[in-house]
Amino acid sequence: MRSACSFALCVNRPRGYNPFVGTAKHSRLEGNPSMSQFSHKRLFLPGPVEVRREILDAQTAWMIGHRTADFAELFARLQGKLKRAFFSDSRVIVSGSSGSGLWEGAIRCGVRDERKVLHLTGGAFSERWADVSRANGKRVDIIQVDWGRAHTAEMVAEALDKSSYDAVCAVHNETSTGVTNPIQAIGEAVNQHKDTLFFVDTVSGFLGTELRVDDWGIDIALTSSQKAFALPPGIAFAAVSDRALERAKRIPNRGYYFDFLTQEKSLLKNNTPSTPPIALMFAADIQMDAILAEGVEARWARHRAMREATHEWALERGFGLYAQAGYRSDTVTTVSNTRGIDVDAMAAFMENERGFAMDKGYGKIKGATFRLPHMGDVTMAMLREVLKGLDAFLAQPPSPAPSPKMREGE
Ligand SMILES: Cc1ncc(COP(=O)(O)O)c(C=O)c1O
Repeated sequence: MRSACSFALCVNRPRGYNPFVGTAKHSRLEGNPSMSQFSHKRLFLPGPVEVRREILDAQTAWMIGHRTADFAELFARLQGKLKRAFFSDSRVIVSGSSGSGLWEGAIRCGVRDERKVLHLTGGAFSERWADVSRANGKRVDIIQVDWGRAHTAEMVAEALDKSSYDAVCAVHNETSTGVTNPIQAIGEAVNQHKDTLFFVDTVSGFLGTELRVDDWGIDIALTSSQKAFALPPGIAFAAVSDRALERAKRIPNRGYYFDFLTQEKSLLKNNTPSTPPIALMFAADIQMDAILAEGVEARWARHRAMREATHEWALERGFGLYAQAGYRSDTVTTVSNTRGIDVDAMAAFMENERGFAMDKGYGKIKGATFRLPHMGDVTMAMLREVLKGLDAFLAQPPSPAPSPKMREGE
């Protein structure tokens, strides 16, 4: 039985209360008849996302030992499905961590101390990955673009002509700004340089927008579980090429937990070097079945359709779109708050009146923007429900200006 409670609605829950199957009478939604069908706060966040009941339940299957034939079967089954999802014939490392761990793994296994790594930065997450490289003592160059802008293949080609790099690191879908970088074109530029590997963070792109690891010449494509994969957080995946493993063999200090060569040794036996997140692997296994049944390309198309509906909604209401035209994400729309709405009030309204946890923008653009995610197993119907809720918020009379006392923060 779950005892932890991850959201405010089930504070003071009765003994034995399961937040996911409870009734509204235990929540702050009590008394609002329109809310009676909701048992929990639904996540409309750009990760972690709402996870289907069936997937949550999959985690409660009886545990198995990871040095058993049962586990090897699970691992092999999941491996085959993940390779289809990444469009890769190589291998997919399964990591008991969030995506940030694989950032570190990619850098430690792929970049020699005496060489350099080129990071394409232009948002909170791409900048943080460059920080991870620096924290690991690597020599880092960056191509910085303004937040909201995309990188181009030309920028990368120019940098690679001027200097040589062990790897180029790009973020496929910058979750803070809602920009999708042209990874295929950037890959073509990187692949002109045979000693330069191409590492891609597809944490919020994978399974929500087009990504073809082998065709696009990507050496490491890493992702987390809690975005368009629509799993709970705590497990991460990386498609890793033979070339990347060859590079790792030439690097002595790869660290321990995220050493891809150690991972590979176990992977060949359908196993992991240390105890894996077995419950999350159960969930991933059945979620992959659902995804393959939907079709990966059909899933991309569903995300694209939701993106279109979101853009239409935002523009019709007088908001702007933060990301550069032509590079707007299929999985998350960063809305420019050109109407100056109070995003805290918006989020409070959506939580209390509609039962949705909402985003308020990220990092230095928090408040000046807010993000509308449309990723994972979100349906058009759920998206419309959220947008309808936002319309109800916008239709409210503006709240009175705070008194001078309140402005002083008393
Ligand atoms: C694009 C991107 N990269 C990396 C991360 C970090 O991933 P994690 O939180 O799984 O470590 C995030 C988290 O939101 C992200 O959006």
